[in-house]
This record gives sequence, C-alpha cells and structure tokens, in this order.
Amino acid sequence: MKTDKSGAFLDRLSRLVPGGANSNARCGSGLAIARAEGARLIDLDGNQYIDYVLGFGPIILGHADSVVHEAVCGALRRGTTYAFSHELELELAERIVTLCPSVEAVRLCNSGSDAADTAYRLACAHTGAVGVIKMEGDYHGCVWPLLHDVPGFDVSGPVRKPRPACRGIPEAVSHLVHTVPFNDVEALAQVLDEHRREIAAVFMEPILGNTAAIMPLPGYLADVRELCDRHGVVLVFDEVKTGFRVALGGAQALFGVHSDLTMLGKAIANGFPLAALGGRRELMELIGPGGVHHCGTHFGNVPCTAAANATLTRLQASDYTSIERRGRKLAQGICDILADMGVQGSWHGTGAMFGITIGSKPPNDYRSWWMETDRLAWMEVGAKLRNLGILVDGFIGLFFLSFSHTDEDVLHTLVACREAVQCQWNAE
Ligand SMILES: Cc1ncc(COP(=O)(O)O)c(C=O)c1O
Repeated sequence: MKTDKSGAFLDRLSRLVPGGANSNARCGSGLAIARAEGARLIDLDGNQYIDYVLGFGPIILGHADSVVHEAVCGALRRGTTYAFSHELELELAERIVTLCPSVEAVRLCNSGSDAADTAYRLACAHTGAVGVIKMEGDYHGCVWPLLHDVPGFDVSGPVRKPRPACRGIPEAVSHLVHTVPFNDVEALAQVLDEHRREIAAVFMEPILGNTAAIMPLPGYLADVRELCDRHGVVLVFDEVKTGFRVALGGAQALFGVHSDLTMLGKAIANGFPLAALGGRRELMELIGPGGVHHCGTHFGNVPCTAAANATLTRLQASDYTSIERRGRKLAQGICDILADMGVQGSWHGTGAMFGITIGSKPPNDYRSWWMETDRLAWMEVGAKLRNLGILVDGFIGLFFLSFSHTDEDVLHTLVACREAVQCQWNAE
C-alpha cells in the first residue's frame, strides 16, 4: 500500500506541530486522512480502509452522518456561541437524564478531560477529602492525579507507587492518587481502609475500555458500589467510551449498578466535541457560582449540542442488537481464526467495543494483560491489517463498531484477519 503522500505531508506537519499530530495518541500513526464516510476512511494517497478505530470511539453512527450534519448546519444558521443559555441545552439535558440511569442533573463540557476535572473537584467539595483511587490501566483524560498508571506503563512488581504518565506532573500530586487492579475488590477495600477519610472519589471505567475492553467480573461493580457507600466516597463511572455505545444507557444499563457521578463523551455527539458530567442531584447542585467551578467558553455551544441531540435521536431509533450481533460475529470469528492457527486467544467487551488478547487465559486486569498476554504479537497483527485496508487500535487491541459497518464489512475483515494472523504465526 502506497502512503507517500501521507508520509510527505506528515513530515511537513511535524516541523510545525510537535509529533506531527495534535494529540499524543495520534503521534507516529504514519497516516493522514483526506475524508471519512460511513465505516470508511480514505487517506491522502487514496487508500480506503474499513475503520474500527472510529476516532478512538466517538463515531457510533458512522462517519459524516447526514442527519447529524444537517442538524448542525441548521443550528449554525442561528449562530455558534451566545454566552447565554439556549433551547438545545434543555433538549439535551432532558435526553441525557432520560437515557442514563443514574443521572438526575447534568452539565455539558467539551471533552472527557473536562468532565473528569469537574468530577474530581466536585467529589473533593462533597467529601472534604482530596485523595483519589483509580484502576491500573484505565484512562480518564488529562487531570493530573488521574494521569497515573495509564495504559503503556510497566506495572510489573508487587509493591510500587502509582506512576505519572509523563514528565511535568508535580510529585506532590502523585501523593494524592492510589491505583488498584481492576476486578480486585480486596485491593480496593484495603486502600480505602488504610486511607480512611482521605479519599474523595473512586474513578473507574466500568468496562476497562483502555485495556482491551476487559469486563467486570460478576458482582465486582456492585461490591465497588457497596465499598464506596460504606466509606462515604464518591463513585465516578467514566462512561466516556461505554456511554451510548455498549448500550443506549451505557454500562450502567448493562450491569444495573449506578454511580454517583457519570462522565459522558465520545459517542454522545458522533464525533463533535461534546462531553458531559451527570449524576445525583444533591452532588450536581454543588456546581455553581460560589460553589464548585465548572466553566468553559464553549461548553454547551450550539453546533455540538445540536449534534448531540441529533445523534441521540438517531440512537434511540437504532437497533443495538444489530451492532452487538455484528461485533460478536467479528470478535468470535477472529478467535476462531486464531484457534485454527493453534494460537490461544480471547475477546472481551461487547459487540460495539471489544478487545482481542493472545494468551492461555483472558486477562482480568491491566497487570495480567501486560504480563500474561502477547501484546506485541497482536500489535504486529494490527500493523499487517492496516496494509490489508483494515484499521484497528493496535496498541490496546481494541475494535469499535458503528451502525454503518455491514455484514459484508465483517466478512471482508475476517478474510483480512486470516491473512494477517497466518502471516504473523507462520513467520514465528
Ligand atoms: C474512558 C475515557 N475517559 C476519558 C477520556 C478523555 O476524553 P477526552 O479525550 O475527550 O478528553 C478518554 C479518552 O480517550 C477515555 O477513553
């Protein structure tokens, strides 16, 4: 596959834009995109790809959805940002409160990081504590204390301190955070016991979307809920990846366990930059002048709010069983191909968001994913798939599906997967 134009363009871009990308997660991709349609991306060289990265999750309907775009164009004729409230905000708040099981009140913002930022401050204001617990291998955006033990960090070794994700995070901040393995309720109980009254919140992705979509073990989320109640700690479910994707009501609808605060983003607006923080009224009403700070010039802006309303309207009329069925067929198909090659592997997650891991048993947390699965082999398969016109998030092994992916796309992808897997394990 020729990627000369992408390459030359990225060289020019990286002279002005560090890393040749405006987000570290996109650095080194080697690909520049000309346009996107439905389940396809087309790069500067004219190569076409079936896209399972989907912007790292926001695209749920498919790229360039005409209904959403028309709603945005219609709204744009009435302006972009007013510095005053507008009707689309009420419409969206009503939709979110109706769809998300634990959300009684909601504030809009632009990114998942914004939602995490306010959630943390709110939890501190509510509890009077400043410490936070997060799970190893989840990611909640750019808030300093939460930027510890994020995917990519070597967590081997039993006794250790949470590791900052990058330089520039003050050491004092690292003292605020404790990390525990996902699915390990004893580890969480121990930290809560040892740091009584110091912890404001437990942040977690209810499905470990940033580590191969590892699922919670039966009863785990309910145990976490119970521990947070017992210790008076705010439970924050980060549904930025799972919200409106794994089910219309997100992971909380799927598992029936409710958080105090919920971070929403990505799929809510099918690629437009809108996110939200919602939760129990008693907590959310701490936000406001003289109370907890939550301000943003572009929070609740007209085009993104219109995009979210249109996306949620479309999603309410969509058949989630179709995306689930298609995703499962693909995930299981890949595992069957691995088995045909004598390679042990498993898939985790849901049809709309799943991860593949290579190893004798499925991982339950970041540590087992990091240490007991062959991440590198799966990354190499991802690189081979790209040459066959299939884009997946190779590092964490994740596939997102949209309502635009068809049964033919799945079949075509499985043919490519067979070739990539054969090539990988024949070469070894
Ligand atoms: C689970 C989760 N939470 C929060 C974020 C941060 O969202 P944003 O990139 O919109 O700031 C991400 C980003 O990938 C995420 O995956």
